[in-house]
Amino acid sequence: MEAIQSIVVLDFGSQYTQLIARRIRELNVFSVVLPCYAKLEEIRAYKPIGIILSGGPSSVYDHDAPPMDDRVLALGKPVLGVCYGMQLMTFKLGGKVRPATKREYGHAEVHVKQESRLFKGLPQDLQVWMSHGDEAEQLPAGFHEVARTSNALAAIENPEKQMWAVQFHPEVHHTPMGKELLRNFVFDICGALPNWTPAQFILETVDNIRNQVGDGRVICALSGGVDSSVAAVLVHKAIGGRLTCVFVNNGVLRKDEFRKVQTNLRDKLGLHLIAADATERFMSKLAGVTDPERKRKIIGNEFINVFDEEAHRIEQTEGHVEWLVQGTLYPDVIESISVRGPSQTIKSHHNVGGLPEKMKLKLIEPLKDLFKDEVRRIGRDLGMPEDILQRQPFPGPGLAVRILGEVTPERVALLQEADDIVVTEIKNAGLYQKIWQSFAVLLPVMSVGVMGDQRTYAYTCAIRAVHSEDGMTADWVPLPHEVLKTISSRIVNEIRGINRVVYDITSKPPGTIEWE
Ligand code: XMP
Repeated sequence: MEAIQSIVVLDFGSQYTQLIARRIRELNVFSVVLPCYAKLEEIRAYKPIGIILSGGPSSVYDHDAPPMDDRVLALGKPVLGVCYGMQLMTFKLGGKVRPATKREYGHAEVHVKQESRLFKGLPQDLQVWMSHGDEAEQLPAGFHEVARTSNALAAIENPEKQMWAVQFHPEVHHTPMGKELLRNFVFDICGALPNWTPAQFILETVDNIRNQVGDGRVICALSGGVDSSVAAVLVHKAIGGRLTCVFVNNGVLRKDEFRKVQTNLRDKLGLHLIAADATERFMSKLAGVTDPERKRKIIGNEFINVFDEEAHRIEQTEGHVEWLVQGTLYPDVIESISVRGPSQTIKSHHNVGGLPEKMKLKLIEPLKDLFKDEVRRIGRDLGMPEDILQRQPFPGPGLAVRILGEVTPERVALLQEADDIVVTEIKNAGLYQKIWQSFAVLLPVMSVGVMGDQRTYAYTCAIRAVHSEDGMTADWVPLPHEVLKTISSRIVNEIRGINRVVYDITSKPPGTIEWE
């Protein structure tokens, strides 16, 4: 998105980088995170009125310290260094950095020694969160010290050059006044206007999409989830009927999902939607397959085939298609451009990564700078039903990664029923929106039971409920016993084919959220 003004955060690998941008957006100022090696033109394209250099795990003297274009410091915009960003600023401007005599991690108290615009209105003694081992030994020319902890330098500045830096993390909750400090930087120092609201985002994005697409045609692969739906509605708002959405039934959707998505998006929101029921194609490809990654590949590939065919049909009936809209979010983007390099693949989550290349389509990703809760806010402003906005994440390969072993139509039907009971009861208990994901898993484990006077020999179902911020880590949720009891007795009584229910009490790590 081309913003009217923004604060650009350059990422040097800290786990908190995303939080900086988010705190600033909470102040209604647009902020975007770019990798530290971003090109100057890319940074300029976001019309920055200030730059923040994030923290990071490296030392400025490491031979593989993350790179940055030195011209960033000469852009003439205010710069705030945070933690590693402070050392980098010191180092790049001619000062010296050394390993600290006493390393500081965790809580610390900072004493502000002299007046500074960055600390305006803040108390002289501040609780902060520190996490670094290096410190500035000699300040660059023109800089002076503003605050210290008992052991180390905590803040420096050179107001004439519009440079500020703090050794602690203002973006985390453990620095209670941190948001005020960021507020001072953003409004007082950078002169930002608090004009970034959902309504503003929608206006700008719709405008950008119109300019980008001209009189071209766009297609969208809808999943029924929040991200692709909000992205589609934004494009629809921009170009109306020149957007065609395709929703594919891969046979491993939730109970009634194929119908519900059509009702929500076509009937309620007026999207031009083609619904392709390809259940049999998927099922025949999945027959006999038990390996989780094979299942993912089969579903991903078959999806591309079905989508490709639909796209050709659209080309023939409606005209040439140039663009593909995707609901990529910021967390999806950073996964692929981490400054620390690619992490090990545990599961291949990017189901349809090959789509744009194969179909030679150009991408529109209107949500790529946002987090999920921000996308929900946008969706609400667009008048979308809560049903879509509050939906818990659901994996692309659907129930296939929740049926351990072979996926058969019989097993899918069983799991659809169990899943429906879990979701209904979690909703009845008022917990659905408080939980990241809650679902049932079908285990190919048969056990003996007794119902009435009858012996049963049937499948086992596991219940999983997790709290998570972003799916990267997760804690299992201690669901109330009453809720578990209702879920368990409903599943065993109502679903012929499942006679035992167990509860998964594994967090991530070491477990993953999905069982496959
Ligand atoms: P795991 O199981 O890796 O899941 O802890 C983390 C998050 O990712 C979702 N997930 C997927 N999403 N395609 C997707 O679109 C996949 O293949 C896939 N596998 C897992 C999972 O539901 C959780 O939110």
